[in-house]
Amino acid sequence: MSDSSAYAEFLKASPEFEATARVDALRATEYGRLDAQRHVYLDYTGGSLHADSQVRAHAELLTQHVFGNPHSASLTSSEMTELVEQTRRAVLDWFGARPGEYTAVFTANATGALKHVGESYPFAPGGRYLLTFDNHNSVNGIREFAGAAGASVEYAPITFPELRIDRERLEALLGRADRAANNLFAFPAQSNFSGVQHPLALIEQARERGWDVLLDAAAYVPTNRLDLSEVQPDFVAVSFYKMFGYPTGVGCLLIRNAALPKLHRPWFAGGTVNFATVQGRRHILTPGEAGFEDGTLNYLAIPAVGIGLRHLSSIGIDVIHTRVRCLTGWLLQRLADLRHANGRHMVRIYGPLTSDARGGVITMNFYDPDGHLLDYRRVEELATRQRISLRTGCFCNPGAGETAEGLTEADIAAAVAEDANMTLPRFLKFITHRGGKSAGAVRVSLGIASNFADVLTFYEFAQSLRDQTRLTMGEVTFDIESCRVIRDGS
Ligand SMILES: Cc1ncc(COP(=O)(O)O)c(C=O)c1O
Repeated sequence: MSDSSAYAEFLKASPEFEATARVDALRATEYGRLDAQRHVYLDYTGGSLHADSQVRAHAELLTQHVFGNPHSASLTSSEMTELVEQTRRAVLDWFGARPGEYTAVFTANATGALKHVGESYPFAPGGRYLLTFDNHNSVNGIREFAGAAGASVEYAPITFPELRIDRERLEALLGRADRAANNLFAFPAQSNFSGVQHPLALIEQARERGWDVLLDAAAYVPTNRLDLSEVQPDFVAVSFYKMFGYPTGVGCLLIRNAALPKLHRPWFAGGTVNFATVQGRRHILTPGEAGFEDGTLNYLAIPAVGIGLRHLSSIGIDVIHTRVRCLTGWLLQRLADLRHANGRHMVRIYGPLTSDARGGVITMNFYDPDGHLLDYRRVEELATRQRISLRTGCFCNPGAGETAEGLTEADIAAAVAEDANMTLPRFLKFITHRGGKSAGAVRVSLGIASNFADVLTFYEFAQSLRDQTRLTMGEVTFDIESCRVIRDGS
C-alpha cells in the first residue's frame, strides 16, 4: 500500500484528524528540524519537543533585558520576580485552578515535586501510603519516607492484560483508612508504561474515604487537559519539558491550599525562611510556595514555561489530544494485526488495544515465527539505523512491567538472592533462564509534533521484522496466541 493510500484510509477511519491539519503545517515551520534531519521521533513520554519559536522568544527575552536574582528590591531583581510570579499565575491558569485554591511550587522536575510530598507528608504509625502497581519509580520511592515514619505501605494491583487498576481490590484497600490518621493515595493519571489513563474520579472517591490524593500527571498533561476546577487532587506533579520540550530543569508541584498545612518541610534553606537564627536555633518558614523553593530558583528558565504554555495554547491541548488519539488508535490496530507468514502474531502489546481511556504510549515486544522473544535491545539498534527514536527497558515503572510480564514476587526474590547488585540487564539474563520470562520492552510514544508519517514509518519498521529469526533471545519462548486474544476471531 502506498503512503498516500494508507493516509487516505487512516483519514476515512479517523475523519476528526483533518481538523488538526494546522499541526502538520507547524511541523514544517516550528519542528522542521525533524524532517530536515529525517528523524522519526517517538519518545514524547521521555521528553516532548520544543517549537523553534519558543527558543527564539526566550532568547529575545534574555537578550533584551537585564535580569538579576529575584526577591530583592533592585530594578533587575524586581523585574525578574515579576516574571516568575506571572509564570506561576500562568501555570495555575493553565490547569484551571480557581483563585486561592491551589499553590504552584516550582521544582526541578516532576521527581522534585514528588519528593517534596514524600518528605513533607505527615506519615506516622496508623497512617497509610497506598499506591498503584502502575507508578513511576519517583512515586514508588515515596514508600521509603512512609515506611521510615512508621506508616504502612500497600500496593493496589492492576489487572492483566488490560493493566488497569483492579477497582474491587482498590475499593477494599481504600476502605482500610483510619480517618483519624494521615493517609496518602498516589496514582498516575496516565501510565508511562502502558499509556492507560486511570480514572480521575478516583480522586474524589479516595478523598471521601479519608485519603489525601497525589496525582502524578507527568505523562498525562502533555496531551490531555487537566482541569483543577473539575477534579481536586491534593498534590499534582508535572515536568514542563514533557509538555512542550523547553525548558528542561523546571517542574511544578501543585498543592491544594486546603492540604498545604499538612505538609511539614523537614529542613530549611536559603530562600525558604522568613527568619532564622544561629544562636536561637530557630527558623520560621515562609508560608506558601516560597517555603518549598530551596535556594535560587531556575529563574532565567522559568519565563520559558510561560512561553511554552502560550505555544500549547495557540495549538490547543484538545487538538493535540485528538491528533494523538487518532494516530495511536491506527498504530495499535496495525501492530496488533501484524502476523508472520505462518499466521502467528508478531507483536505483543501491553495494555489496552484500543484508544479508549489510554494515551499515546504503546509498549510492546516482538516475537519470531516460533514465538521466541526478539531482543528489544537489538530491535532498538535496528530502529536507530532508521533514525527512529524510541525507548526500551522498563521505563522506571517496575510494577506495570512485572504485571505485564507475569513476574512474581518469587521471581524477584530469587533474582535478588542471586545477585545483590541487580540491574535490569542482569535481571533480564536471569529471568530469561528461569522459566522463559522476560523483562523490559519497546516503547513508542506520540506527542505535540507527531504526524501520520511517523506512525507509518514505525509500522513499516515493525513489518520489516516479519519472519525475522536472528534477533531472538534464545531461551524465551512465548505463546503469544494463548496469552491473549488480540482480536476477535484470532
Ligand atoms: C508518569 C511519570 N512520572 C514521573 C516521571 C518523572 O519525571 P522527571 O524525570 O521529569 O522528574 C516521569 C518521567 O518519565 C513519568 O513518566
